[in-house]
Amino acid sequence: MALDSLDLYVVIILTLSVAAYFAKGYFFDKPESTGFLNADGGAGGVGGINSRNILEVLAKNNKNALLLFGSQTGTAEDYCNKMSKELSSRFGLHTMVADFADYDWEKFEEIKEETLVFFLMATYGEGEPTDNAIEFMEYLENEADTLSSLRFTVFGLGNSTYEFYNAIGRKLNTTLEEKGAERFAEYGEGDDGLGTLDEDFLSWKDNVFDSLRNNLSLEEKELKYEPSVKVIERDDLTKDDNSVSLGEPNKKHIAGDVDLTKGPFDHTHPYIAQITATKELFNTKERSCVHVEFDLSDSNLKYTTPPAFGCLATE
Ligand SMILES: Cc1cc2nc3c(=O)[nH]c(=O)nc-3n(C[C@H](O)[C@H](O)[C@H](O)COP(=O)(O)O)c2cc1C
Ligand SMILES: *[C@@H]1O[C@H](CO)[C@@H](O)[C@H](O)[C@H]1NC(C)=O
Ligand SMILES: *[C@@H]1O[C@H](CO)[C@@H](O)[C@H](O)[C@H]1NC(C)=O
Ligand SMILES: *[C@@H]1O[C@H](CO)[C@@H](O)[C@H](O)[C@H]1NC(C)=O
Repeated sequence: MALDSLDLYVVIILTLSVAAYFAKGYFFDKPESTGFLNADGGAGGVGGINSRNILEVLAKNNKNALLLFGSQTGTAEDYCNKMSKELSSRFGLHTMVADFADYDWEKFEEIKEETLVFFLMATYGEGEPTDNAIEFMEYLENEADTLSSLRFTVFGLGNSTYEFYNAIGRKLNTTLEEKGAERFAEYGEGDDGLGTLDEDFLSWKDNVFDSLRNNLSLEEKELKYEPSVKVIERDDLTKDDNSVSLGEPNKKHIAGDVDLTKGPFDHTHPYIAQITATKELFNTKERSCVHVEFDLSDSNLKYTTPPAFGCLATE
């Protein structure tokens, strides 16, 4: 099959601002958008302990705010990460974001009163929880006796074109109270159907912050920039060192035991494209806009304009 030249060469224009965004803003000084790092710099399972007991993980890592997401396509998770960062930087809370699926819930009744728990819950199907929250909801309905030491707030994510609009958020809001838990900030919900989900989340978040200030008397810190990652320069390493990544997509690539020129390719099996041409489009020092051509001819991939484009450059 003949490929036309548009398929052979992909023309991507990177403005300096985009490059700067990815190189600096994205990776270093815009921590709330790091999906992998939590506010306190802890990654997913946090603190190197490998436990499915959420209370143990909270205690060992000294956490006093837990953000749980019931999420299928990542919106609730994304909101948790953003909120976690803000709770940490504004209120000094020691936050942890967790996926329901990573923990067992039978001991949840013993949660400490000091821990503030934020539930961000999407609804799917016929008013059902997301896959990752099924077990938790079952625990809540069938096993949880009393949750008198739980202090919580809930935000529901839904779409009002569905019959069971925000069924899970609402159910959680009422069930937790029925089980004796104490709500420290009002229930809120967002509507994808009206396209107002982001605004709804932000206004709920503001209400929660009001409540933290007024009802819980948490003191708000003056906002100052705090990086979530630290860059340490290591003169003792060279690019030939085994522990230095040159942008290889995964371990298999480093080990070289998989033929990476064979597809099918996707985001976890990226095609290592050759750059065939680059040229600077501006003649001024103030701005830079680089024209880059990638050769995809052996990949069987077709290029379409992505919503976001990241670039890893290696020497
Ligand atoms: C297949 C499907 C089924 C859904 N069912 C419901 C529903 O029953 N009730 C509701 O309020 N929202 C429903 N939604 C909307 C989602 O809950 C909403 O888009 C939410 O923001 C998704 O969050 P997430 O990205 O964290 O998974 C549904 C969405 C999809 C794609
Ligand atoms: C949340 O629960 C409280 C107390 O049970 C109730 O007053 C409120 O109406 C609930 N909100 C929704 C949207 O169900
Ligand atoms: C907390 O305080 C706000 C006012 O800041 C109030 O509207 C709200 O009802 C209070 N209670 C809860 C549970 O949020
Ligand atoms: C909300 O649901 C309707 C019906 O399924 C769908 O057409 C619409 O795209 C959804 N909105 C969003 C933002 O997902």
